[in-house]
Amino acid sequence: MIAFQDPLGQLPVKASTFAGDVDGVYYLCLAICAFFFFLILGVLVFAVFKFRRRSPDQPAASSMTHNTPLEVLWTVIPLIIVMIFFAWGWKGSMDMTYAPADCLQYEAVGKQWEWQIKHPGSKTISINEMWVPVGKNVKVTIYSRDVLHSFFIPAFRCKRDTLPGRYQKVWFNATKLSPRDADGKSIGYNLFCAEYCGTNHSKMIGKVHVVTEEEFATKPWEILPADPWELGQYIYERRCFTCHSIDGSIVVGPSFQGLWNKTESLADGSTVTVDEAYLHESIQSPSAKIVKGFEGKQMTLFPDIIADENQINGLIEFLKDPNKSTK
Ligand code: CUA
Repeated sequence: MIAFQDPLGQLPVKASTFAGDVDGVYYLCLAICAFFFFLILGVLVFAVFKFRRRSPDQPAASSMTHNTPLEVLWTVIPLIIVMIFFAWGWKGSMDMTYAPADCLQYEAVGKQWEWQIKHPGSKTISINEMWVPVGKNVKVTIYSRDVLHSFFIPAFRCKRDTLPGRYQKVWFNATKLSPRDADGKSIGYNLFCAEYCGTNHSKMIGKVHVVTEEEFATKPWEILPADPWELGQYIYERRCFTCHSIDGSIVVGPSFQGLWNKTESLADGSTVTVDEAYLHESIQSPSAKIVKGFEGKQMTLFPDIIADENQINGLIEFLKDPNKSTK
């Protein structure tokens, strides 16, 4: 690891032990490219003026076809340069590949279109949010439930594809607490999906919160909002939003705007009043009553929500008035 700064301010914030090497290779590459760009262009421009033909019948000044020492030089120097890149890149790649033995063990599952995170020693899954203690080695076993995704945390310079049917791993050591809002709550570093994975690929964004040991010990990933409506909103913002809007627009499934108490037309020609019983049933078995116009669309089942009456009730409270102002 080298402590390499970001002289041109082009790269994301550096928040892991990998950042120095990655940024170092990047800037070395940029510097060498810039150097040769100006060198070669300079010689070219110089030659164009210095050796230009001064009259239409001017004979060639030299019949030289090649220059062996020069050719060896311009082969050997680039070879040395690319070998430096290779060696540095290899070292960085090995560092990223082989996790130390003392890592905290996480799991991250990519799924259209969310990250499901399991924290060490925890059975609950946390959607799109991950908490790691600062300065500790963290290993994440990643895989996919459906298609290719890619687990990418730019601030950590950490990226690997997730594949269905294969376990992959990444590890990192976060060196910097994540940014905070005015209330001191962590905003987190972005966890992107960096592999196009369908309609809502661009919404598949998680947050990695780098917190102190003390904050980590409170297991923030297990703390859900106590107020039912806020719990419902919390779930909506992490899961339902990828398919259901609250502004009337159609993303994949029906919008949640103005849902409560309305008379919904179903695919089989009947109608139903949206009440608690209907919402409860639709969360647990989405195919029981299909809204007209949404035939053939399969709603994702969330086993962890279905198994938790508290979360279902929270969602129902939220669905009664999804646009309620909380401020
Ligand atoms: Cu998951 Cu893109």
